[in-house]
Amino acid sequence: MAKTQVVIVGAGPSGLMLSQLLHRHGIDSVVLERQTREYVEARIRAGLLEWGTVELLDEAGVGERMHREGLVHDGFSLAFDGRIHRIDLKGLAGKHVLVYGQTEIQKDLADAAGARVVWEAKEVAIHDFDSARPRVSYLKDGVRHELECEFVAGCDGYHGVARASVPKERITTHERIYPFGWLGILADVPPVDHELIYANHARGFALCSMRSTKRSRYYIQCPLEDKVEDWSDQRFWDELRARLPADYANRMVTGPSIEKSIAPLRSFVAEPMRFGRLFLVGDAAHIVPPTGAKGLNLAAADVRVLYRAIVEYFRGGSTALLDEYSPRALARVWKATRFSWWFTTLMHKFGDEAFAYKLQVAELDYLSDSEAASKAVAENYVGLDFDDDHAPRARRAA
Ligand code: APR
Ligand code: PHB
Repeated sequence: MAKTQVVIVGAGPSGLMLSQLLHRHGIDSVVLERQTREYVEARIRAGLLEWGTVELLDEAGVGERMHREGLVHDGFSLAFDGRIHRIDLKGLAGKHVLVYGQTEIQKDLADAAGARVVWEAKEVAIHDFDSARPRVSYLKDGVRHELECEFVAGCDGYHGVARASVPKERITTHERIYPFGWLGILADVPPVDHELIYANHARGFALCSMRSTKRSRYYIQCPLEDKVEDWSDQRFWDELRARLPADYANRMVTGPSIEKSIAPLRSFVAEPMRFGRLFLVGDAAHIVPPTGAKGLNLAAADVRVLYRAIVEYFRGGSTALLDEYSPRALARVWKATRFSWWFTTLMHKFGDEAFAYKLQVAELDYLSDSEAASKAVAENYVGLDFDDDHAPRARRAA
């Protein structure tokens, strides 16, 4: 039976980041991914990085292209009731964010990972994760393989095998499904503004984002029952413009979409995130609605805690940080889950109740007048500080 130190299930951003950081510290890992590399890279995902994620990708040695092609943003705007309020991230929270597509990060990490990834690894199964020598079996080109290891990292997303391998009585899940979706398009047109715009409107939410100064990413809130075929490009542009203040709508450059898709919105948290020698990471343990752009950044935050814990274990045999992984990761997960839920609730249309809309406008109005309230938004948006004290935190019931 082949051996390695860490088996990582899933070659999305979590799995590849973890494998790369462990590799930089001389720790072996094998990444098992059921899809092809091309399939994984073709998935269009978000593209807004907290500076903590930028620093982690630098630590992993894959930051060169990110800094060369990424766009540093010092703020973003909230549009509501025909008005605009800018959240000065740099001024209020002292940090930037970086616009760099998740697809590009995926490519940079997969290039760095090289042979550590087994693409098209089918029927992955995790065995004995409560023992000191877990095993992971998989099928590759019709041949069954088994790997013995010391730790298994479940970086296999919401629909993966890792969380599904945990007996129901050992895990608690929390979920909220939002009654709408996001219809998103990618188009090679210049963005309507040099910063992101989140719009609350009586017709529904809209977001103006970008991938570069030549490629724009736009989203509008749509009914969950809608199909992409229901939305011609023209209908999309007309609806987007209708939800933005006039001066943005008038200067919007439109063009053919090169990608168009509808994504559902949910908040999901699984607790705990560790079962013996099995650690859940990223979307395998938590999902946030995209409104706060926290999905990728939370996955990176999990990896940051876990890789340091594994390094400490292989360096000195201490399990202190490993034992702290779940409570520390979950503390950040719940704060980002709250912020993403709050921002989604503030900016989206929930039914036709005028009272609810009036409350949203009043809260946005308050935000515009209150530096304290804007600062709270800025702090959460750029990413809360990491609690890097390494000193074991007081045990929480997680
Ligand atoms: N066996 C092997 N691989 C699997 C299995 C399985 N049984 N199940 C899923 N996978 C793979 C998927 O094909 C996918 O490539 O695991 C990977 C999980 O990647 P993501 O879903 O991207 O999850 P994660 O790496 O945690 O990244 C989280 O990505 O989806 C965005 O919004 C999300 O930004 C967040 C970030
Ligand atoms: C994106 O660019 O795709 C994006 C940016 C910010 C968000 C969500 C998505 O909040």
